[in-house]
Amino acid sequence: MSYPTPGAVRELYSTDAIARRVAELGQRITKDYAGRSPVLVSILKGSFVFAADLTRAIALPIRVEFLGVRSYDRGTESSGAVQITQDLTHSIEGEDVLVVEDIVDTGLTISYIVNLLRARGATSVRVVSLLDKPVRRRVPVEVDYVGFNVGDAFVVGYGLDCGEEYRNLPGLAELVPKS
Ligand code: IMP
Repeated sequence: MSYPTPGAVRELYSTDAIARRVAELGQRITKDYAGRSPVLVSILKGSFVFAADLTRAIALPIRVEFLGVRSYDRGTESSGAVQITQDLTHSIEGEDVLVVEDIVDTGLTISYIVNLLRARGATSVRVVSLLDKPVRRRVPVEVDYVGFNVGDAFVVGYGLDCGEEYRNLPGLAELVPKS
């Protein structure tokens, strides 16, 4: 899929709906990781808003790390070639890692990240993604926690961009390309 030309946006999820869902995810994660101290690895840039809210919905001693990746260039189809633009600041060897992603589309990016973190010696690696687009999957990936399933729409807002625009939109919206 190519990045569409920025145009009008149509709301998919309001700030209230997102807050409710993030609170639910936080509660589930708190329960599932009870007695443990996971390291949340927020994938930049898209997950920064979600990660900020999700971390505050988890009632456990956690650590936060950021991993910057570029999955494909503007206007081109996902190639599976993932470039690390910013690396972790601490080792995750022997840690329970929870990867915080904005959206899983073809699955190429998240599968690369999960393999990388496993290779670096994480004890466990799970994935929480705000959005999942299962109809677009090209490689099988396990997304352990999903905020919302979406169809084949291009979603912006709440951290997600189109050519670096719309990240600061408070809710989640579908981009409606100019006709
Ligand atoms: P994948 O490798 O195809 O799963 O792509 C995942 C990455 O592509 C996400 O982390 C986003 O950065 C970007 N992406 C995929 N779909 C969308 C979308 O609908 N809106 C914004 N970014 C997207």
